[in-house]
Amino acid sequence: MTQNPLHHDYPWTTPDAPLVVSAPMMKITLAKAAVTVSANGGFGFVAGGFDLSNLGKDLSEAAELVKSQSLSLHDGVLPIGVGFQNWGSDLKLALEAIKNHPVAAVWFFAPNQLCELLDWTREIREATNGKTKVWIQIGTVAEAVEVAKTSKPDVIVVQGADSGGHGLAQRASLLTLLPEIADALAKEGISTPLIAAGGIIDGRGAAAASLLGASGVALGTRFLASEEITIAKGYQDEVLRVTDGGVSTVATTVYDTVRNIHGWPQAYNGRGVANRSYLDAVHGMSERENQELYKEAMKQGDSGWGPEGRMTTYAGTGIGLVHKVMPAGEIVKSVQQEAINLLLKTAARFAK
Ligand SMILES: Cc1cc2nc3c(=O)[nH]c(=O)nc-3n(C[C@H](O)[C@H](O)[C@H](O)COP(=O)(O)O)c2cc1C
Repeated sequence: MTQNPLHHDYPWTTPDAPLVVSAPMMKITLAKAAVTVSANGGFGFVAGGFDLSNLGKDLSEAAELVKSQSLSLHDGVLPIGVGFQNWGSDLKLALEAIKNHPVAAVWFFAPNQLCELLDWTREIREATNGKTKVWIQIGTVAEAVEVAKTSKPDVIVVQGADSGGHGLAQRASLLTLLPEIADALAKEGISTPLIAAGGIIDGRGAAAASLLGASGVALGTRFLASEEITIAKGYQDEVLRVTDGGVSTVATTVYDTVRNIHGWPQAYNGRGVANRSYLDAVHGMSERENQELYKEAMKQGDSGWGPEGRMTTYAGTGIGLVHKVMPAGEIVKSVQQEAINLLLKTAARFAK
C-alpha cells in the first residue's frame, strides 16, 4: 500500500505517498520545523511538551509562517499539530492556545493514567467542534485497546522500543508491536488508523511499517538532523557521529535525574546516547555529583557533547542511519520516494 489513507482528513498531505509525520520533540520541533514539514506534504507537529507557557507564542508564529508559505487553512485549522506530554501539561492552557489557533490535530503522550485523556479528548473536540483531530501515542497492545475503546482517538501512534526520547520502559519493537495491535483492534471491530513511530529513519523503515499495517510513519530522530529544527550544534553533531544505536544508546532515567526533571510517570524512561553522565551513574556516582558535573558541562556549550560529553543526546536506535543534515522538506520527500520505489520493486519481484 503506497497511498496515504489519511489524506482525506489532512488534505495538504501528499495523497499518493506514505504519510510522513515529524513527531513532536520538546523544545526542538517548534513552528518553523512543523510548518516546513506540512508545507512539503508531510504532517508537522509543534511540541508543547509539559510546560505550555510558550505554546500561544509558538502557535502565533506558526500561523504567521503558514501565511508566508502560502499554505492554506483547512476547514479553519492550521495544517499542523501540537504534541503534549500530558503528565505535566495544563489542559486550560492547552485549550486557550488551541482556541486562539485551532490546529488540525493534537498528539497526547504519557499521561499519568490513560483515563485522564478522556477529559483532554472531550474538551479539545468541543473547543473546535471536532475540527481538531485527536492522536494518542501509546506503547503496548493493552494501551492501544484501552484508548481505542475509551478516548476513541482519530489516530493511534504506536511507539516501538527503538524510539528516541521518552517511552515506556517495557515494550516491543514495531516489528511485533504494530501487527499485534492491528490484530487486537480488528478483533474488537475497531479500525482506528495506526501511525508507526520508533526507529524509522528512511524509506526502508517507512515501507516496512506500511507492510506491517501502518497508515503512516512518525519520525523523531531523523528530523534531529534537519535544517529547520531548534537544536545545539553539539547535539546535532553527536547525532551524525554516533552509529550502532542498539549499543550506543540506552533507555534510562539518568538523563532526567542529571537535568533535575521530575514528574515523568514511573513506567517511562528516555532513550539517548550513552555518555559520561550515564556511565558515571552506572558506576555509582551520586546523583548530586552527577548533577553538578552536568551543570558544569552546560557551560561548555557545544563541546559539552561528544564521546566524553555529559550533555544529553536523546535519540533512537536508528541514529546510525542518520548521515547528514537536510532540509526537513527533503527528508519528507526522500522518505516517501524511497518507500514507494521499494514497495513497487518488492511487489514486482513477487508478481506472477
Ligand atoms: C529528542 C526527542 C524528543 C522527544 N520529545 C517528545 C515530546 O516532547 N513529545 C512526544 O510525544 N514524544 C517525544 N519524543 C518521541 C517521539 O514522539 C517519537 O515517538 C520518536 O521520536 C520516534 O522514534 P525515532 O526517534 O526513532 O524516530 C521525542 C523524541 C526525541 C528523539
